[in-house]
Amino acid sequence: MRKIGLRVLAALASLGLLAGCSDSADDGAVPVAGEMRYDTTLTMRELMLHVLEFAADGLWSNAGWVEDANGYRELYPETEEGWEQVVASAAMVAEAGNLLNLPGRRMDNNAWVIYSEGLTQAGQRAMAAAIDRDKEALFQAGADVYSVCSACHQAYDPEINSRFVSN
Ligand code: HEC
Repeated sequence: MRKIGLRVLAALASLGLLAGCSDSADDGAVPVAGEMRYDTTLTMRELMLHVLEFAADGLWSNAGWVEDANGYRELYPETEEGWEQVVASAAMVAEAGNLLNLPGRRMDNNAWVIYSEGLTQAGQRAMAAAIDRDKEALFQAGADVYSVCSACHQAYDPEINSRFVSN
């Protein structure tokens, strides 16, 4: 892994892509707002379907209980690897809040920002719960994530909830 990482770095350096990244601590590692660049090629719909929905499913399908043909059973992971996948899904949900807030995606400076930040916070709570292997807290945080998704859809595109819930 490490070797591959270094090779990628070397390739980027040879392309000159690391030119701005010198090693002095205060040379602007955090760019000022005017210099920030984003690629928001993915449409809102693509972001929702392929990033948010995918990440949130990784959370929801591993938290709670279901009753099906095999009876009543827990959805929580049974292996360490399974738990780590939930941690990763929760981390992606948390970061997805930032993706929604990027210039070019942000629909306004009011409710949209509050919902996006709410998603990040609920995702972070889910991540902490998964790290602690705390089933109750994970269930609660998963429900909070769901509430934020639904609230934003209700505010910006109410038709989605009817489609979304019936799935
Ligand atoms: C900040 C607001 C906001 C949040 C938070 C949000 N969404 Fe969305 N979502 C939208 C908007 C706006 C659309 C409509 C996009 C379009 O079709 O142009 C949408 C559409 C969708 C769609 C429908 C795509 C389609 O057309 O079939 C799905 C699925 C979806 N969101 C999933 C989620 C999930 C899962 C979450 C939470 C983890 C979430 N969204 C959180 C704003 C939000």
